[in-house]
Amino acid sequence: MTKITKNEQIEAVTGWWNSGNIRKFDKQYDDWDHEVMRYQNSRQTKVLNFVDELNLPNGAKILELGYGAGQTAVKLGQRGFEVHGIDVSDNLCKLAKGRCEKACPEGKFFLTVGNVESRFNYEDETFDAVLMVGIMHYLFSADDCLKEVNRVLNSNGHLIVAQRKVFSMAHFLSMRMLIRSLVYVVCREQYELFPSYKSILCDSNLGVIFGKFKDTKWMNTKFMLKGHDEWKFKLKKRIYDHGKLMSLCKRTDFKVVGLEGTFFGISENPKYHKLNVLVGNYLEGRTQNKFNGYLKRLGGVAVILCRKREQLDGIN
Ligand SMILES: C[S@@+](CC[C@H](N)C(=O)[O-])C[C@H]1O[C@@H](n2cnc3c(N)ncnc32)[C@H](O)[C@@H]1O
Repeated sequence: MTKITKNEQIEAVTGWWNSGNIRKFDKQYDDWDHEVMRYQNSRQTKVLNFVDELNLPNGAKILELGYGAGQTAVKLGQRGFEVHGIDVSDNLCKLAKGRCEKACPEGKFFLTVGNVESRFNYEDETFDAVLMVGIMHYLFSADDCLKEVNRVLNSNGHLIVAQRKVFSMAHFLSMRMLIRSLVYVVCREQYELFPSYKSILCDSNLGVIFGKFKDTKWMNTKFMLKGHDEWKFKLKKRIYDHGKLMSLCKRTDFKVVGLEGTFFGISENPKYHKLNVLVGNYLEGRTQNKFNGYLKRLGGVAVILCRKREQLDGIN
């Protein structure tokens, strides 16, 4: 597995999120009749449910890190909150500002371009809540970022994290995905692999053995390359699941007070969309039963609500 430095990662992430490909992100919430949109919308719904549960007053200040094309920011503005944001992409910032101005002209939006792995340009204890939706896996050091989040949150402030997971039900029903999941655990992988046998063997820690076969004929057969990709931007995506996210939050002085899972389905293949919707709706309903809490962990997305830990909390 090739290593990457903090500067290389942020350069690649910035390049990717400013590339022409990100235009499609503007449309990714537009209807539910597609796997990608079902993913974005089910994730956003859970995040907004947590926001609503906080019962924040009108005008409360919320910071969104990695606001993308602004689909969540706009909904926060429509709820009467003052919305601040930091995102590394100039292009997405323009899209987000346009969306917010159009859909919520009376809203208060302060969306900026910047790197959330640097010190934030805000005073201590400025915000009532911070949202991080689908950004954590791009960070080189999530710990450093969450320490900054902790600094800018009020003493009663909350952090909501929603993150794609690499272990979900849909991954256990395909042989390639299952093998990849096993390699993640057994080889203690830090970063995502493409779901191809070539990537599983060459890009993981198994690359010590198999890397030398990377350019051989057998490693490049159709069978070995199924699911493979080569990215122009050499960014790495960190692997997360409920447990890893909770430990991250705990060690950066947050107390986990709510846990949800969403995006249930039997396959990541878009051709199973209708079946995924059926299974998804069924399981989504079941997770709300208190005896079925474990089901939440089978979904493709983890959503966690944390409260900033006060000094006294630490003693309990
Ligand atoms: C998958 S998108 C999610 C966008 C939005 N939160 C949503 O759920 O629709 C990830 C976002 O994180 C931003 N991002 C990634 N790494 C970042 C960093 N180090 N600093 C600031 N923004 C970053 C990207 O530009 C992108 O907008």
